[in-house]
Amino acid sequence: MSFFPDGFLWGATTAAYQVEGAVVEDGRGPSIWDFFSHTSGKTFNGDTGDIACDQYHRLDIDLDLMAELEMSLHRFSVSWSRVLPAGKGTVNQKGIDYYERMIDGLLSRGIQPMLTLYHWDLPQALQEKGGWANRDSASYFADYAGLINRRLGDRVAFWNTLNEPWCVAFLGYRDGILAPGIKDEALAYKVVHHQLLAHARATEHMRADGTKGRIGLALNLVSEIPGSTASQDVAAAHRMDGIENRIFLDPLFKGHYPEDIVRFVAPVTDFGFVHEGDLDAIQQSLDFLGVNFYQQHITSADPTDPERKVRVAVPGKRGSAMDMDVAPEGLVDVLLRVKRDYGDLPIYITENGMAAQDKVDPDGRVRDAQRIEFWDERLLAVSEAIEGGVDIRGYVASSLLDNFEWQMGYSSRCGMVYVDFGTQKRIWKDSARWYQRVIVSHGAIVGALRWE
Ligand code: FCB
Repeated sequence: MSFFPDGFLWGATTAAYQVEGAVVEDGRGPSIWDFFSHTSGKTFNGDTGDIACDQYHRLDIDLDLMAELEMSLHRFSVSWSRVLPAGKGTVNQKGIDYYERMIDGLLSRGIQPMLTLYHWDLPQALQEKGGWANRDSASYFADYAGLINRRLGDRVAFWNTLNEPWCVAFLGYRDGILAPGIKDEALAYKVVHHQLLAHARATEHMRADGTKGRIGLALNLVSEIPGSTASQDVAAAHRMDGIENRIFLDPLFKGHYPEDIVRFVAPVTDFGFVHEGDLDAIQQSLDFLGVNFYQQHITSADPTDPERKVRVAVPGKRGSAMDMDVAPEGLVDVLLRVKRDYGDLPIYITENGMAAQDKVDPDGRVRDAQRIEFWDERLLAVSEAIEGGVDIRGYVASSLLDNFEWQMGYSSRCGMVYVDFGTQKRIWKDSARWYQRVIVSHGAIVGALRWE
């Protein structure tokens, strides 16, 4: 039996660059993702978000779809360069108008907006000033947050300042897989800190202006398992936990970076970018924690250099398209762990889902039974964590629509609604029809449904 408390919110997610399209329309400025996706060899098949789901022109269609799904929460992001084409300075009123239509359209359909301020699309003009490696990015971000809060904040109940800052720092600045495509390990740590500082300064700014909403950020937390009980493997898994989870959780909840990690990365950086007062601001910044959950890592020490190198296995139950099909126990484990080590702040699951190569059958149906089973098991896991005492207030399925999956382009589909990118037709997958029933029953059918 599953259990979800009264007031638990049910949602689905999108992100601006993944769905909007209209990248040169109505005064929008370029972002790092426009540049990155248009650089040869950076995305699968050279795919870009130029058109994506064309949501900029189809907003009402998608809002009606969300209403029909009976969603009570929608997580979306604002494109910074649509409202501030150069990242700072001149405001593009048409950009503000678009998000106003989004928010009012949600509210008039009984759906609470959860607004993400930064889902990876830094204005290109700010990248040219060093991007997140420049400490000033924190104050540019705070000004941008202040602007959105002043114009739209009276109607926004939930804010995510940042989405998955780990991915921005390590995949964007260390591994070069995501925009801006830089490969510099030392910079990655600086970018961790500047993003946390940006989050803290934005929160301060919005609170000083008397924001009505609650402010959080969305971390992609990883379930970490040692490859064996051998002490070297346990130590290696602890180190992974430090680099993937504690590097954000410790400063946010405890006001310091994990000491073992600071020591471990000393050959690369001395953390000299942390200034006095930064960590106090960061520690006071959260009203809730957003948890994006996709991964479990089984880590062992690499025998060639057990003190520094690791071997990581990524278990996928059914080998889903993007290695995201993590066993549901991993989600329970992550949620209980946050409570145990960091206390009782309210949690929203801000993303959870899987990719697949969905197809439209000749009868027009998209039979994604695997995704139904996936979400069903994860929702049971959420319910188990709630019964274990974790204060979880909502679940946001990832994602609402098939969309531009970053470096994977359009090669993988994560939506509960299929998008035919040729015609822009939206087709409900079986999982959308199932999720609608989950929402209507307030979760009662979770764990109980046989879907034909
Ligand atoms: C997450 C991103 C989200 C989506 C999923 C599949 O890392 O936050 O936008 O692409 O992966």
